[in-house]
Amino acid sequence: AVRARADALIAQMTPEEKAGQITQYFDFTSAPDEAKRVTGEMAAGRAGSLLFVTDPAELDRLQHIAVEQTRLKIPLLFGFDVIHGLRTIMPVPIAMAASWDPKLAEDGQSVAASEARAIGLHWAFAPMVDIARDPRWGRIVEGAGEDPYLGSAMAAAQVRGFQGAYIGSPGHIIAGPKHFAGYGGALGGRDYDEVNLSDSELWNVYLKPFKAAVDAGAGNIMSAYMGLNGTPASGNRWLLTDVLRKSWGFKGFVVTDAGAAHDLMTHGFAADNQDAGVRALTAGVDMEMAPPFGESAFKTLPQSLADGKITTAQLDEAVRTVLETKIRMGLFEHPYVDVKAAQRVLDDPDHRVTARIAAERTAVLLRNEGGLLPLDRKGVKSIAVLGPLADSKRDTLGPWVFDQNNDETVTVLAGIKAKVGAGVRVDYSAGVSIPPRMFPSIFETGPMAAAPRVTVDDDTEIQRAVKLARAADIAVLVLGEGWSMAGEQASRSSFDLPGRQQELLDAVTATGKPVIVLLMSARPLELKGRKPQALMDIWYPGSQGGAAVANLLFGEVSPGGKLPYTWPRDIGQVPLPYAHLTSFQPKTAEQRYWNEPNSPLYPFGYGLSYSTFAFSNLRIDKARVALNEAVPVSVDVKNIGARKADEVAQLYIHQRYGTAARPVRELKGFQRITLNPGESRTVHFLLKPEDLSYWASSTRSFVQDQTVFDVFAGDDSTASLTGSFEVKQP
Ligand code: IFM
Repeated sequence: AVRARADALIAQMTPEEKAGQITQYFDFTSAPDEAKRVTGEMAAGRAGSLLFVTDPAELDRLQHIAVEQTRLKIPLLFGFDVIHGLRTIMPVPIAMAASWDPKLAEDGQSVAASEARAIGLHWAFAPMVDIARDPRWGRIVEGAGEDPYLGSAMAAAQVRGFQGAYIGSPGHIIAGPKHFAGYGGALGGRDYDEVNLSDSELWNVYLKPFKAAVDAGAGNIMSAYMGLNGTPASGNRWLLTDVLRKSWGFKGFVVTDAGAAHDLMTHGFAADNQDAGVRALTAGVDMEMAPPFGESAFKTLPQSLADGKITTAQLDEAVRTVLETKIRMGLFEHPYVDVKAAQRVLDDPDHRVTARIAAERTAVLLRNEGGLLPLDRKGVKSIAVLGPLADSKRDTLGPWVFDQNNDETVTVLAGIKAKVGAGVRVDYSAGVSIPPRMFPSIFETGPMAAAPRVTVDDDTEIQRAVKLARAADIAVLVLGEGWSMAGEQASRSSFDLPGRQQELLDAVTATGKPVIVLLMSARPLELKGRKPQALMDIWYPGSQGGAAVANLLFGEVSPGGKLPYTWPRDIGQVPLPYAHLTSFQPKTAEQRYWNEPNSPLYPFGYGLSYSTFAFSNLRIDKARVALNEAVPVSVDVKNIGARKADEVAQLYIHQRYGTAARPVRELKGFQRITLNPGESRTVHFLLKPEDLSYWASSTRSFVQDQTVFDVFAGDDSTASLTGSFEVKQP
């Protein structure tokens, strides 16, 4: 029925209307001339979708024009970068991955979806499921980090959160996993640069989360900007058609990243804009996200049809995917926005509760010398809260935030003040400024620009910060990278604290007062000099970040997050994935550099707690299994500390030999559990045949070997509790 409805419309459409239906335009209210051009196209029935409109009244107005004034009355599909919330901002996606709690990621995106749907949006350009193994790449903030297993779990969970049980579920929107595929492998971590990935890396690592997202029912996929092994992703028929549609059975629609069809020319791939449109469409792109302020490649499709460069069937196939999506979303029946009802959804206090719980569950405790944390509320009479990120609402939210509710954003300073009440003195100094980027990003200039940053005089402020630290019982320093130093166009060639933050840290630690550093960042940063007693990564924790941090500092909850990426000692080590192959001379593996050990500062999966856990009794149910047989594994986890706290039980495998060499360790199971002091729990895992299979370059297929597997269980990727089993056909 859905297809028949779409086809009935297609039968009435002109080639221009068809090309328009599969074109999406940026509609920037801050750029009136561009908005006029775009809404002109839309009113003429030559735009199927708009992005970057977030005012519910404006969304409603535009939809009325599409539905009431265009010839075929086809509603618009409104998309937006709902990356980690719309009004209520959740911690950034890398933080959500650090929770090792897919249900939390699902809940967060479900809240985001409900807010987005209420105001009239239909589609999120999220989740970003790109594997990121090079933290120089700023978009590491938007994904789940380096691991395909964790990444797949987070990808599927977010698709469920956005879309609900089916496409068109009330209060939900379409998920658009991106950027298909390999974007995170950018050469040198430089955003947009070429990506060269071996067959094995592609299938065993980079494609895995996309497959999980497609299996979870994602209604859309965004094709990437960059070239993959020499062929631009948005003109790559192998990727978009052979893999995505034919092999994986993807039924939704593919949109390009902004201008990526037109850019097939820029890549030196397409001859001209018309050729770019032809090559994107025939590769498997269904909708072009047109370049902002630029020329759409799909606008030339009617000409290509007339020239015989594409067929009507090819054009109709793309149009059908878009119309079917609109039909499934119920847009023909309910196109408009109820602005008052939308406000009620945005005001729902439960959304703030989800955001706070999320921020609590995403923090990763990296150091806690002498058990400085949690702080004893009765013992602390004065706190110096210092640092350029301690009271910055915009930074607390992180990148990809445009529509936030600023009044509800709780900074670390505000969170601590609210927690301790009047009895404790809380002094504040920014200490230093976050410096401007050498090259501003698209989010600092142009139509998406945020308000400029407020700065302080560093010399005066460092002195003031030191004075406050001296006068306080304890100093809490909130340091890291500003919001625009992560995300798109935010690659970095250094892991230092930007600006004069290291100087501030040195000056404050020199006072001899206990120092807690809270790191706000999405990539590992290098703290030099004397180490602070406590170090906690709070990422960009979102709207309720400060409230969550206060709860963590004072022990109302124990940190239970774990690193979703390896934290190197030095930027020279990257990329440094834990799941690397055993290579030549393994005995000297730790000595690959002559100047420092090869091991990371903190391994993948690492994170401390206010309690201590013991792992024991690793049980592998079968010593020998046949091919295609699952292997039940369990391990006991006991809270041997004095506090109720969370632990993430992690399961890794290593294949000893086979068709191809396999990584030293690969994550294949995890569970986050809460245990009371003294409590013990048996955690069960099931190693499925697909967990034991992999893509072998030599056979160009997925294989499962008859071999021996080592199994490791514990609290991070260096877990030492081990056992093994054999796979052998009887
Ligand atoms: O969704 C984004 C994408 O991730 C990067 N380029 C622009 C798109 C729309 O804002």
